[in-house]
Amino acid sequence: MLKDDYARTIKAGWERTTYGKWVRDEGVATYEGWFVEDVWKLETAPWPRLGARACFVTIYPMMEGQRGMYVVDMDPGAKLEPIHHLYEQIIMVLEGHGTTELWQEGDDRKHVFEWGRGSIFSPPLNTWYRMYNLSNLPAKFAAINRAPAAMNEFHNAEFVFNCPYPFRDRFNGEDGYFNVAPMSQRDSRNIWETNLIADALATDLDPADNKVAAGTVTAFHMAGNTLLAHLSQWPVGRYHKAHYHGAGAMLLGLRSEGYVLLWPSRAGGKPYTTGHEDDVVEVPWGRGSVYSPPNEWFHQHFNTGKEPARHLAVRGGNAFSGAPLGQDAQETRVASVDTGEGGTLLAYEDEDTVVRQRFRDALERNGVENHMQDELYAPGYIRAHSREAGWGER
Ligand SMILES: [Fe+2]
Repeated sequence: MLKDDYARTIKAGWERTTYGKWVRDEGVATYEGWFVEDVWKLETAPWPRLGARACFVTIYPMMEGQRGMYVVDMDPGAKLEPIHHLYEQIIMVLEGHGTTELWQEGDDRKHVFEWGRGSIFSPPLNTWYRMYNLSNLPAKFAAINRAPAAMNEFHNAEFVFNCPYPFRDRFNGEDGYFNVAPMSQRDSRNIWETNLIADALATDLDPADNKVAAGTVTAFHMAGNTLLAHLSQWPVGRYHKAHYHGAGAMLLGLRSEGYVLLWPSRAGGKPYTTGHEDDVVEVPWGRGSVYSPPNEWFHQHFNTGKEPARHLAVRGGNAFSGAPLGQDAQETRVASVDTGEGGTLLAYEDEDTVVRQRFRDALERNGVENHMQDELYAPGYIRAHSREAGWGER
């Protein structure tokens, strides 16, 4: 099967990488698979370098996308060890309340900012930072990073943690650096430039209909990173069109429930009716689930819960982060163009009818109304009739 060949091949290569060896030598708890159903259920164990319990997560496509991830549990009143590293990292607080103290190598002044459930921030590359749980309740956060890329590049994990170079082009001790920037602060690509999001569960997002009617998306860029990220939401009773692109995007479920289908684009747009059913990976999706679409695999998100679905996507991989802006822009464009027109977005009319039926069945089981109105399947309908036609958020 294409699916099993893929997992076997990349696992064999990954275990020989500097990052793969480092994770093993670090003696940390690890989790590996096609997806994490719920980060709250991961078993964490002491990670001495950070002074907290952690679990390192590797989803198979992350092995080729050079992304890393870990989840950290902080006890009430805990303070973590100060750390700095030559990899970019986006931190999302899953629960709890605390502060981060952050400073640049050689500076006396320490910057402090607060975080709570739903906060997202990114320590600028190689800055020192130390996290404190100030409350009498536990705190938990997920960190998505480029540690594998950095370690594999230098072939030396300790260098990544012990290089004193201050990247003052990214952070030079500016006042207000960790204030939430107004949404009006966009760069030339319409990406929100902010170094802190106070609550990713509640932040308003912008209209984006190309993958699902009445969907919303806001992309954001933090701390001068090459990593990009976005928050995306879509209505009750709806699902996205399938699309594919390069590996390295990491998706963390924030709200609602449902499932995600992943299958190799080599298996075509209709895997169920062309004998490739066994190549489809079905990810049980919901708050706290994590998955990562492999290189050039279709992925399709289904909301079967009773509220709008929302996720955080940290984009990366060869096609996205670190690539020249032109390449990044091109990849985004191709994923917004139908397969019939040279892109990688599978129009509803080209999808497997089995996909539709399975969605209807899942909604029925959950007692949720189906909002995939017949018109939405008509070619070009969503583009021609955006939310003005009444496809409002539900
Ligand atoms: Fe995608």
